[in-house]
This record gives sequence, C-alpha cells and structure tokens, in this order.
Amino acid sequence: MTRKVTIRDLAEAAGVSVTTVSQILNGKGERFSLDTRRRVHQLQEEMGYVPDFNARNLIMKSAQTIGVLVPNLGNPFFSMFIRGVQETSRERHFIPLIFGANHDEKLESYYLEELIKRAVDGLIIASASITAEAIDNILKKNGIPYLLIDQNGGPSVDRVQINDEQGGQLAADHLLALGHEKIAVVMPDDPTQNLQIRLAGFKHRLAEHHVNLPENAIVHSAMTKLGGYQATAAVLAQHPTAVFAINDETALGLMRGLHEQGLSVPNDISVLGYDDIDLDEYVVPKLTTIHQPVVTMGQQATGLLINRIKDQRQAAQLVDLPVDLRERESTAHLK
Ligand code: RIB
Repeated sequence: MTRKVTIRDLAEAAGVSVTTVSQILNGKGERFSLDTRRRVHQLQEEMGYVPDFNARNLIMKSAQTIGVLVPNLGNPFFSMFIRGVQETSRERHFIPLIFGANHDEKLESYYLEELIKRAVDGLIIASASITAEAIDNILKKNGIPYLLIDQNGGPSVDRVQINDEQGGQLAADHLLALGHEKIAVVMPDDPTQNLQIRLAGFKHRLAEHHVNLPENAIVHSAMTKLGGYQATAAVLAQHPTAVFAINDETALGLMRGLHEQGLSVPNDISVLGYDDIDLDEYVVPKLTTIHQPVVTMGQQATGLLINRIKDQRQAAQLVDLPVDLRERESTAHLK
C-alpha cells in the first residue's frame, strides 16, 4: 500500500526545507526565488502532495470546521437551510459537518458529542429537543461557540430570528380576507417554541376579528407529509372551510388525503402551508404558504457563528429576517 506523500517528501525532492515548502504553498513565499517557487509547485503536482489538514489543525489550532445538526434532512426546509450553510462556509473557508437527527434525542446527543470529539470550531443546532442543561454542560463548559436556530431558540448569544408571530398573523389575515371563519390547524402535539409562537400569532389575529379557534380545531400530527396525510379524517371531522398547516410538508400530505376523499382544494376546502419549500410550485394546486427566507437563514447563521469563532468576545449578533405571504392556488374565497 502506497503511503500518503508528506510535506517532508516534497521538501527533500525540491531541495528546500519543510518551512520553505509550507510558506510557498500557503502563499507566503514571495521572499524565495521564482525558480524555487515554481519547482515546489511543479513537484507538488507531480507527486500529488495534498496538505494534511489534521496536521495543519494542530499548528493553526483550528479545524475550520462547523458542526450542523438539523431535525430532518428529508424535509426540503432543512436541505435548503443546509444550502445556505454550505454557501457561506465555502466563502469563509470552513467545512460543515452536517447531521440529521430525525427528531431522535439520543441520536442528537450522540452526534453532538461526536462533533465535539472531532474538535469542530462551532455548532449550529436546529434542535427540536436540545435542552438547556445539554447546552450548559456540553457546549458552554467546553467553550464551544454555538448558535441555536428556529426550533427552541434557547440562550445562544447570537441569534438569527424569523418572526413567527408575524407569520401566524399573516396566515390568519389571508384566510380571514377570504371569508373563512371555520378553520382547522394541523401541528405537532409537542411543538417547539417557534411553532408555539406561530400558532399564538395565528390565534390572536383571529381573536382580534372575533373568530374563535377552539382547542378541538387543532389537529395534532407529525410535522411530515405522512403526518398531514394521516390527519385528514380528524381535520374533516371539524368540517372546516380552511386549514392552516403549520408547515408545508404537513400541508402537502393533507392535500393528498383530501384528494383521496374526493374533495377539491380549494373549491371544497382551502389549505394554507408555511415555509415555502420548492415543492409548493410543483403540486396541484400550487400551495399557498408563508415564505421563510431559509437559505438566507442558513447563510446568516453560518456567518454569525464563524464571526463568533474568530472572536468569542464580540457583542451579541442579532439578525431578524422577515416572512411574507406567497399566494398561489390552494386557497380561495369562501363559497
Ligand atoms: O418544516 C420544518 C419546520 O420546522 C419549519 O416551519 C421551521 O420553522 C421549523 O420549525
């Protein structure tokens, strides 16, 4: 088995010191002759030398690596978030190590510990279940910069905030404007903090218009396509004229269930989602939803975390991102 070419091999072949090779390959070799620089680069290519990043980490004391933990990589919301993370990571010369824990607390803790063992420089955690003590015990005590997004926005110093209350209000305004007052909501039975704020915004805006949302009009399901699909019967039992699904995946599953019951969306019942994932434009009817700027959220979360990695003493960084209504075909005026 051939061994990996080392910087020492390259230095010997070029007839220079290891330090000279390191400085030339790191763009700091201007004090060496053009001939020496050319010889080192040419031999690097011929020998196939690739710097050993772990060795570099020991010197630079930075892995240039961030860990990213999300609940569900299968949900386009989180894959779009990851796209933003990757874009900014690349711009800032970091590598993201990405894990989806599928709402499994044990798996989430496992990944968190494994990421820390690998000396990542910081963490972005979109967790449905990260606990304050886990944050204190694992992250703070280890002095690891982290940023919590979206789910249970906990005590992370830096925040990327999306206005869930405003999103809930926009959802209510839209359905009220279409004349709907008999509305059902589909959401998980253990909602994270941001979902609770979203529902509260929705309920309060309805109440401001003297429209009541009784507890039994809130149908509980997993926040997935299957969850929305399986909620169909419970939703129909409420005889609503419109449904607000707490995220798009739930809305898409529900639309499938309504279709199988012979119901027309929006002619028989309007369906409103939340997130604005790319699938919304490709289902029939196209899904009306509340847009979350999720790629930007991924970019901003990564930028704030890397800023924190580079200077842990800086003041708290706060980014607020807006939401807005994306009116398509799945909602219509009350007949
Ligand atoms: O679709 C995933 C949902 O989980 C989004 O609404 C996001 O805000 C998170 O809460």
